[in-house]
Amino acid sequence: MALKRIGILTGGGDCPGLNAVIRAVAKNAMGAGIEVIGIEDGYLGLIEDRFCPLKRDDVSNILTLGGTILGSCNKANPSSYAVRQDGKWVMKDVRDQVIKHYKKAGLDALVVIGGDGTMSGAAKLIDAGMSIVGVPKTIDNDLWGSDVTFGHDTAVTTASDALDKVHTTASSHHRVMVVEIMGRYAGWLALNAGVASGADVILIPEIAFDIEKVAAKCVERSKIGKRFTIIAAGEGAKQAGGKMFIDHINEASPDPIRLGGVAKFVSDQVEKITGIESRSIVLGHIQRGGPPTPRDRLLATGFGHHAMCLVHKGSFGRVVIKKNGVIDSIPIVDVADKVRTVPLDHPMLEAARALGTSFGD
Ligand code: F6P
Repeated sequence: MALKRIGILTGGGDCPGLNAVIRAVAKNAMGAGIEVIGIEDGYLGLIEDRFCPLKRDDVSNILTLGGTILGSCNKANPSSYAVRQDGKWVMKDVRDQVIKHYKKAGLDALVVIGGDGTMSGAAKLIDAGMSIVGVPKTIDNDLWGSDVTFGHDTAVTTASDALDKVHTTASSHHRVMVVEIMGRYAGWLALNAGVASGADVILIPEIAFDIEKVAAKCVERSKIGKRFTIIAAGEGAKQAGGKMFIDHINEASPDPIRLGGVAKFVSDQVEKITGIESRSIVLGHIQRGGPPTPRDRLLATGFGHHAMCLVHKGSFGRVVIKKNGVIDSIPIVDVADKVRTVPLDHPMLEAARALGTSFGD
């Protein structure tokens, strides 16, 4: 069947490179005579029937632009959508509504660009009969099945730049500086930024830390004349036997936990144990902003192109991935509800340990 019209949406937390994918998908489709309909704010636009036809001009000059021209939302999974009832949030399955809007718009297929939450949502829409191709994004780099996601390289660059800047002031004031880095339940961002900036201690969710050992590392550095310590703390890092630090719970979100607080905890405890003045910094959403790095632009363009190859072939229900340097695809159901964490035998962990980096264990 020749395709006439496809939809495209960006779901979940935004990241640099989303516009590069939108551009690659839309230009490819338009070149083949396929109309492209942008859906506003991820699945929310599908639920609320907010569609906007895209023209060539809309997707020109957006390759280097951060964010997403379509808008995004990380609280709208159609099979588990928060609705206010009697003063409480109740999760409802609104897939019928989504399919009605999808059919009304005359869409033959949908390209969804998002992370694990968006792919889990897509898996449920595929079950309900929709033709979907997924493109993975996330600064967290935690999408199961893909060695890399676009957005991560830019976030590593931003976090690493922040660590470098903190380095000089830590050195001037002889302080311990703890920098909290995003990444949710996976430590890729903290690990990669930490190693790239030569952090002395890196705390990641995959390796539970002992605060006494973190403090001992700071003292050990003082003894050899290094009067400052840089600690890169992944927001999901936790103490041995302890729990992750939660900043708040967003009840309207299908994934309600928002992490935060580990850097303040580590900084306060290290100061208490060692007497060395300590400060904490939370990098936060800065890591999701700015123009994508050239590497992310290339990956996003390659992913967008591959997604359209799948659409042209009618290979739906698949998500684009990069494995062993090759862009390919796997079934979306395979990645739904899974997280790709840092394996404990990862070569970068070994390399960092060999350099004397502490993981607080
Ligand atoms: O998944 C991307 C991410 O930035 C995580 O690293 C972070 O934990 C979360 O999103 C923050 O979510 P929100 O934008 O809802 O604060």
